[in-house]
Amino acid sequence: MIKAPTIDPPSDDKRWRLVQATMRRNGFARHSLIETLHSVQEAFGYLDEDSLRYVAGSLRVPQSRVYGVSTFYHLFTMKPAGQHTCVVCTGTACHIRGAPELLAAFKERFGIGPGETTADGQISLLTARCVGSCGVAPVAVMDGLIAGRITVDQTIAQAEEWLNARNAQANGRANNDE
Ligand code: FES
Repeated sequence: MIKAPTIDPPSDDKRWRLVQATMRRNGFARHSLIETLHSVQEAFGYLDEDSLRYVAGSLRVPQSRVYGVSTFYHLFTMKPAGQHTCVVCTGTACHIRGAPELLAAFKERFGIGPGETTADGQISLLTARCVGSCGVAPVAVMDGLIAGRITVDQTIAQAEEWLNARNAQANGRANNDE
């Protein structure tokens, strides 16, 4: 007999039954993470913080892993969906160790707050309540990769790198067209 998870879905939306059915069919096994995230996306059209927390809790998978998988694979759509995703952890440990400064730096440099995407669709900024890596706070998940003890400068540098890569690609295309 499969033991059902003790946590409740984020809402009483009936679509959660589809997700639960997927997890039940797999015996709530951790290896069904990707399949389960697929069923969330199929049911709701995208993944968000609440759904990720729910899946992590139900499958007993660290939230850091769920965030990593969902932001790394391009088949998953996070809401909102920029080309690149930075998830800043705002859980207690990260808050104390500098998450507010990371968010302020994003606002200052790119003009976006949590849940927003830059006007060019390049970078989405998200927040999470705890991604399960408190020992290396503050933590950001940059395009699916966990970055612990990250500084403001490192975070902004990574985001700038994304933009530079995009610009270099665009310039390369323009040159080829000439
Ligand atoms: S509070 Fe940020 S990883 Fe736990």
